[in-house]
Amino acid sequence: MRITTQPSNTCVLVTGGCGFIGSHTVVVLLQQGVEVVIVDDLSNSSEKVLDRIDQIVGADAAEKLTFYQADVNDREALDAVFDAHTIDAVIHFAGFKAVGESVQKPIEYYSNNIGNTLTLVDAMRAHGCKSIIFSSSATVYGDPDELPLTEASPKKPATNPYGWTKWMIEEILGSLVVADPEWNVVLLRYFNPIGAHPSGLMGEDPKGIPNNLLPYVAQVAVGRRDAVHVFGNDYDTPDGTGVRDYIHVMDLAEGHAAALTWMAGRTGCEVFNLGTGQGTSVLEIVKAFSAACGRDLPYVIEPRRAGDVTANYADCTKAREQLGWEARYNIADMCRDSWNWQSTNPNGYEG
Ligand code: UD1
Repeated sequence: MRITTQPSNTCVLVTGGCGFIGSHTVVVLLQQGVEVVIVDDLSNSSEKVLDRIDQIVGADAAEKLTFYQADVNDREALDAVFDAHTIDAVIHFAGFKAVGESVQKPIEYYSNNIGNTLTLVDAMRAHGCKSIIFSSSATVYGDPDELPLTEASPKKPATNPYGWTKWMIEEILGSLVVADPEWNVVLLRYFNPIGAHPSGLMGEDPKGIPNNLLPYVAQVAVGRRDAVHVFGNDYDTPDGTGVRDYIHVMDLAEGHAAALTWMAGRTGCEVFNLGTGQGTSVLEIVKAFSAACGRDLPYVIEPRRAGDVTANYADCTKAREQLGWEARYNIADMCRDSWNWQSTNPNGYEG
């Protein structure tokens, strides 16, 4: 079982493929002719996304998609998937991702995120599949000493259990490669994924009150919430609000497809930042989203949120040079697509 540079000969297991980043990546892979097997327990996603994927890619490509509702920590279920399909590579998205909740429920976060990764790689090993792309995060850089962040920037202690799970899973996968040089591991460190599929058929659909800025802003725009709460305007940034490197989810999805092609025939462990290289402040986001939705969105300044860093943005030279990948969408595009999704699906997939 090997990944080849021919997408139509490749079968990829996508854990968490019904989630925000997973679903967009599945669309890109299917459109390239890759066979996709999703394993998702739907604990934080909707099965309805599968119809949307079919609508976007069309009937022929959709035939190459199989969905299993299962927990990645369920070894028997995973074995059945590996027995039924010749999996060439795995893209591992499945995991809990709410930072605040992780502080309240550390055992659940460590057990789910790290436990499911261990179960997954053990099942992979048992079935001779040793290629994996892991959804890591810029959170592993912590509070940076220098910007922009390159892959050589040091990992810093995480500020919450969610961050530690990303940090530790990177180490676990790195240890696998040391122990068995046949493994082929790519760690993709995402900056802040936002936006939605340009069709308006897929987007981010958080359950409950959104923790992240963009879904919150989008819900203010659609009238589900009163005002954006801006967490701190006394940071050492041009307008005092936090600066992040927001990246369109379709660019991120393309980054996974590029990494998959790049991995073909390789072994080892490689890290790539996926961002745009541009920093944008909270107030700039509010302004850009206001322009996208056609009205000035109300906001209130609140105290800083614990654990937030002042600014981070990526140096994406490595991904450009090695993967041949570069982000194409700008902030206006991201807000336009996010608004298109939110305004046509005000209550997400269940609406
Ligand atoms: C957060 C996580 C990060 C995770 C990422 C997933 C923290 C400390 N970090 O990144 O580990 O990988 O989500 O997408 O939580 N903001 C507001 N009002 C809001 C929400 C956010 O002003 O209602 C501000 C924040 O202070 C920050 C910026 O918006 O300056 C972005 O916040 P957010 O979208 O939550 O992402 P991060 O905190 O960067």
